[in-house]
Amino acid sequence: MTTISIQRVGFACGARVTGTDLSKSLSDEEIRAIHTAWLEHLVLVFPGQTLDPVTLVNFTRRFGQLDDYATQPFARHPEINEVMVLTNKRTNGRPSKTYNNGQNWHSDLSYTLRPAKGTSVYCMEKPSVGGDTMFANMYLAYETLSPKMRAFLDGLEAIHDASLIEGLDDRGPEVASEFRRLNPPVIHPAVRLHPESGKKALYINERVRQFVGLSRTESQPLIKFLREHSVSPRFVYRHYWNIGDLVMWDNRCLVHLAVGDYDPAEIRHMIRTSTMGDHYGRLEQPGREPAETHPGATSSGIAPDVAALHD
Ligand SMILES: [Fe+2]
Repeated sequence: MTTISIQRVGFACGARVTGTDLSKSLSDEEIRAIHTAWLEHLVLVFPGQTLDPVTLVNFTRRFGQLDDYATQPFARHPEINEVMVLTNKRTNGRPSKTYNNGQNWHSDLSYTLRPAKGTSVYCMEKPSVGGDTMFANMYLAYETLSPKMRAFLDGLEAIHDASLIEGLDDRGPEVASEFRRLNPPVIHPAVRLHPESGKKALYINERVRQFVGLSRTESQPLIKFLREHSVSPRFVYRHYWNIGDLVMWDNRCLVHLAVGDYDPAEIRHMIRTSTMGDHYGRLEQPGREPAETHPGATSSGIAPDVAALHD
């Protein structure tokens, strides 16, 4: 019998989950309860957890195969490919390559052919103030559009371009050019049907350059409108981090943004995993191959935990 308790923390999305220790091996019943709550609330916050890269991997792989971050190898944990380190700590005197990750509204890995299904981030160190993460509910963004606009968008595809990632060039010319080489532009539907909820969600974010079949000039005002509409404050939950928070969200129906409003002299240090979603979309320029992903990779050497609920 599970002791998990779930309380909403936002109107648009977000719930706090207590009564569980994620460093332990959870029962299938607990995993199912968490998964059900995740589909309902889109963002789950587990406060007061004590995790490390290994226990983070063991917990999050219960919800699906983990990405090995081949699309951004510079951001990997030094020993565990399935863990990304989001930090502003310097390494050997050199600035971090992830110090400014995620500072525009996006859905993780939407610029790839296998966008992330879920993302989990665990807070190990945080600045005294600032450095929050905001989430916007893209079901609501879609449902609040007029029927004619929804019908128009239902038939539209969008080009996602990793070049539009905020601050990419600030990470250094080598990182930026390698990132672009590994991640050529891809095409995804502007509206996606969530495979588990069966509901439609807007799939537009600040990494969208243009719509297929519309000119750049025609696309820009629509992209601008949809970006602004989709992150209206009424669709947003803002998470104020505490050390020990594990936050797990659904990229198929959310966009999110890491707010860069903190003192760079203070440390913000997080570790992250992503569960891989379905193969999705196509290349804008066929033949320009993206980075290899490694399905089933266990390069970390961590023994597989109980079989994942979903592939
Ligand atoms: Fe992100």
